[in-house]
Amino acid sequence: MRHELDAFFKPRSVAVIGATPRKLTIGRETLHNIFAAEFRGKVFPVNPNYEVIHSVKCYSTVLDVPDAVDMAVIIVPKQFVKEAVRQCGEKGVKGVVVISAGFSEVGPEGKTREKEVLEVVRNYGMRMIGPNCFGVVNADPEIRLNVTFGKTFPKHGNVGFITQSGAMGEAIMNHAMELGIGFSKIASIGNKADISSNDIITYFKDDPQTQIILLYLENFGNPRKFTQITTEVSRYKPIVAVKSGRTSLGAKAASSHTGALAGLDVGVDALFEQAGIMRVDTTEELFDVAAALSRQPIPRGNRVVVVTNAGGPGILATDAMISHGLEMPNLAPNTVKELKNFISADASYANPMDMVAGAGPTEYLETLNVIKKDKRYDTILTIFLSPVTVDELHVAKNIHTALKDTDKTVLTCLMGAGVSKAGIDFLNHNGIPTYLFPEAAAKALKTIDGYRQWLERTPGKVKKLKVRTDKAAEIINRYLADGTSAIVGEDAMEILKAYGIPAAGYEYAFSPKEAVSVAKSLGFPVVMKINTPPILHKTEAGGVMVDLRSEAEIRNAYKELLKRVGKIPKGEKFSVILQQMVSGSVETVIGMTTDPSFGPLIMFGLGGIYVEVMKDVAFRIYPLTPLKARRMIKSLKSYPLLTGFRGAPPVDIKIIEDTLQRVSQLVGDFDSIAEIDINPFIVSDARDRCKAVDARFILKKESKR
Ligand SMILES: Nc1ncnc2c1ncn2[C@@H]1O[C@H](COP(=O)(O)OP(=O)(O)O)[C@@H](O)[C@H]1O
Ligand SMILES: [Mg+2]
Repeated sequence: MRHELDAFFKPRSVAVIGATPRKLTIGRETLHNIFAAEFRGKVFPVNPNYEVIHSVKCYSTVLDVPDAVDMAVIIVPKQFVKEAVRQCGEKGVKGVVVISAGFSEVGPEGKTREKEVLEVVRNYGMRMIGPNCFGVVNADPEIRLNVTFGKTFPKHGNVGFITQSGAMGEAIMNHAMELGIGFSKIASIGNKADISSNDIITYFKDDPQTQIILLYLENFGNPRKFTQITTEVSRYKPIVAVKSGRTSLGAKAASSHTGALAGLDVGVDALFEQAGIMRVDTTEELFDVAAALSRQPIPRGNRVVVVTNAGGPGILATDAMISHGLEMPNLAPNTVKELKNFISADASYANPMDMVAGAGPTEYLETLNVIKKDKRYDTILTIFLSPVTVDELHVAKNIHTALKDTDKTVLTCLMGAGVSKAGIDFLNHNGIPTYLFPEAAAKALKTIDGYRQWLERTPGKVKKLKVRTDKAAEIINRYLADGTSAIVGEDAMEILKAYGIPAAGYEYAFSPKEAVSVAKSLGFPVVMKINTPPILHKTEAGGVMVDLRSEAEIRNAYKELLKRVGKIPKGEKFSVILQQMVSGSVETVIGMTTDPSFGPLIMFGLGGIYVEVMKDVAFRIYPLTPLKARRMIKSLKSYPLLTGFRGAPPVDIKIIEDTLQRVSQLVGDFDSIAEIDINPFIVSDARDRCKAVDARFILKKESKR
């Protein structure tokens, strides 16, 4: 059975509506590319002004074409697109690729025009790629379809490529050609009026010729669907993505710490991490990763051996590998013994294995033949720094001979080749990716290793925890009813408690005398905070006094706080909160913010009053599974502070995992919550001293009743 999108990738016939004979026009280059690639199907130029284009009969309209037309590519001026599409519908065309620009990308007027075209597409039950796109390619030798106006027909290979930017698509195709990276299919999706990256990723999942998926994305139409699809596809086929642009979240005035920290596109990061998508920051890295993935197996583990003829690059490689969390174990004793038979005694029989400058083709062949048997390694990185005295191409050929049949992952780095690229070209076109510098190879390996680890994890299920939803609902509904959007103080703490999150108690005092008696009943030491008038960030206003140990200290603190607030609004009476002093070892922050496209993002980080300076926080998309919660804690730079730093006892990480999951459940139960800040959530080694001491909820504006 034919898939709907086969109309685009395996059409039996293509009409080029807007074909022209004038060179350097899109209409002409697209038609020419179809011929030049030797498309295996039929081609019909359509243009009322010509009888013949490119020695082929030209038709006035698509309706005049005597044969069936599977796909039409439309290159007419924007105002004629709708009619051209309508005629395609009449003709029974299955898919239209609209290259013409001047639609939603140019503003409201274009948006309307795009809507109208889409309506015609839908009315006739067709599908559409574009508008404002670069076209589609199927490099399969059986099809050879190049419906683009670019300059290259890519080499056939196993990479499926989806690009939102046509210009980037062309640039990437050209460069990939040089690196010997082959493509199965390419789709430039433009404005995505109908077909989105989601549709094409789903199509690539079942396409046996596509083994790796590359994405160049600018935004997500439907991020939740994207997450769902990519999470599934990543299990079978690696996905590498460059995502440019930032979410609009950063521009939003943030009323919580969590909101402020979510400024960068943490939603995208969280999505990619969850879905197993390898995110790269630059197009260069996209190539580095794709070059390895498209021709080499995914390493079975993270152990790397570096073989080099120069010390410097060996050290660079080692530094980069180690800093990326890869391992470089020593050579096995047997390997060393064998190597000693033929490698100069000056060499260091270590990792990196430095064969020293005199090493030539023979040394590379013999050394690699031994090293490839060493079971301590998953990946071999061969570095060759080209001295004038050694034939680089010969070395490249011997690296290939030695390593072409190994099941280890093989990467190479040919440095200083200068004018002669023969060795690099040879390896690139014979299945062994080459890198200009070892750092790039190490970075690519790290990215791929992240994917390997993702593959080895079982995703797990969200745990349903026993909580008191009714109690939390009672409080939240009260605020919704009277239109107050911020829940602070005792009510905030009560919501946490209803969800089984340990939270410090709240006691109020309206006079120094009352404060003393409350402190006595709580037990010293205590903390005193300003309660009325309410203050958003109490510390900034000098409104928090910690570690009060005596009656005298309580009285002084009360006086001091009263002095600090200054004027009290009419009708209100000054009061303070008293809390038990929670003596923990680390202040963490747990929060939630709502991303306009990803929905709730849950945050964990190093907290307290310095959270916005340290910015050591991790975000994940709701909901959290136990594994996700654990991994997000582990991903912090300051994670070692939690596991027992400098003799301190390790904190109770289980309680953090549990609390994160409870917050996740709370977020799921109450759609009206826009933001949460639990800062600090103080943790220590003893569970009964792990507590939230300050919390704040912000409700969504539109959920006011
Ligand atoms: N009960 C408590 N036990 C120990 N430390 C506390 C307690 N309450 C507050 N603190 C300390 O004071 C800081 C600020 O208090 P907090 O209630 O979070 O006020 P705000 O965030 O409004 O400034 C906390 O980060 C913590 O270091
Ligand atoms: Mg606080």
